[in-house]
Amino acid sequence: MKGLILSGGKGTRLRPITHTSAKQLVPVANKPVLFYGIEAMVQAAITEIGIIIAPETGGEIREAVGDGSRFGAQITYVEQDEPLGLAHAALTAEAFLDGDSFVMYLGDNLLQGGITELVEAFESSAPDALILLTPVPDPQNFGVAELADGRVVRLVEKPAEPATDLALVGVYMFTAGIHDASRAIEPSPRGELEITDAIQHLVDGGLRVEPHIVRGWWKDTGRLDDMLEANRLVLDRVDRRIEGELVDSQCEGRVVIEAGAVLERTTVRGPAVIGAGARLTDCYVGPYTAIGEDCVICEAEVEHSILLSGCTVSKLEGRMESSLLGHNVTISRGTRQPRAYRFMIGDNSEIGIL
Ligand code: G1P
Repeated sequence: MKGLILSGGKGTRLRPITHTSAKQLVPVANKPVLFYGIEAMVQAAITEIGIIIAPETGGEIREAVGDGSRFGAQITYVEQDEPLGLAHAALTAEAFLDGDSFVMYLGDNLLQGGITELVEAFESSAPDALILLTPVPDPQNFGVAELADGRVVRLVEKPAEPATDLALVGVYMFTAGIHDASRAIEPSPRGELEITDAIQHLVDGGLRVEPHIVRGWWKDTGRLDDMLEANRLVLDRVDRRIEGELVDSQCEGRVVIEAGAVLERTTVRGPAVIGAGARLTDCYVGPYTAIGEDCVICEAEVEHSILLSGCTVSKLEGRMESSLLGHNVTISRGTRQPRAYRFMIGDNSEIGIL
């Protein structure tokens, strides 16, 4: 069995971060989302992994993941020239998959329980496809499944009027038959070959598509709120580890301070992680916060936020919360009069003065 991780896509819902960086590399608890997927596969003993990349962000993904040896995997990169859909991505990887069964995993998805149980279920009951489902409050934003007698009978991509609240989670198990099904379908109204339609094609052809209801949490990290929520869920499980230097500072609860970080007169209330080389002076870092490497925070309060590496936050009057800062962002307050706001912000940025 092989693994196929989809790591193309434009990440439009996470702009401006994704103007300069792949959405799959945005960190959750200071680790790129994509790495969780790779680790889940390796844990399920799937080590031959193909990663679908887009021309724009592929280089960055190759650089971050490398040949896979640090994960105990062999990675093959497969370039998808245009984002023409998930079924198109599976077809693009047909030569790599070479007739084998495979797990297809959307690179911006996070699954609490991993995929080991799923792989075992697929191997023991040997269906033509196995899909993961979970009840969601907004099924119209996902592929939606209808079941009858424990089988999948109908799948619709983002229906305006969903028949059930069972969303397709971005992890699928397929036999090689999915390639012919992907060739047989037409592009959807959004111009993509939908994997949802390809699976429906299997169902229509009388093939066996089994549902598997996800028990733990699942997050598609495509939007800011989901990203922050994923960060919260992952941080809730970190083990306390203090390797940096604390000077007149306190760390409460589940806190990770990486080696080389220095905290002075600072309180960190967990769950939180502070990256290597970060410097926190006279500040408060609240729960559910991940501070990237080499960030400098001084006389400021930050809570429920993700800061990528190299950010500077200083002398803020109010607490910064529920925020996502890209690499090397600076937010600081001056002392001169008259007081004013001064911004240099990239396209599609969002600033909230609350
Ligand atoms: C894709 C699939 C959809 C699935 C979702 C899970 O949606 O098309 O069926 O429910 O992933 O994350 P997209 O992210 O392309 O909107």
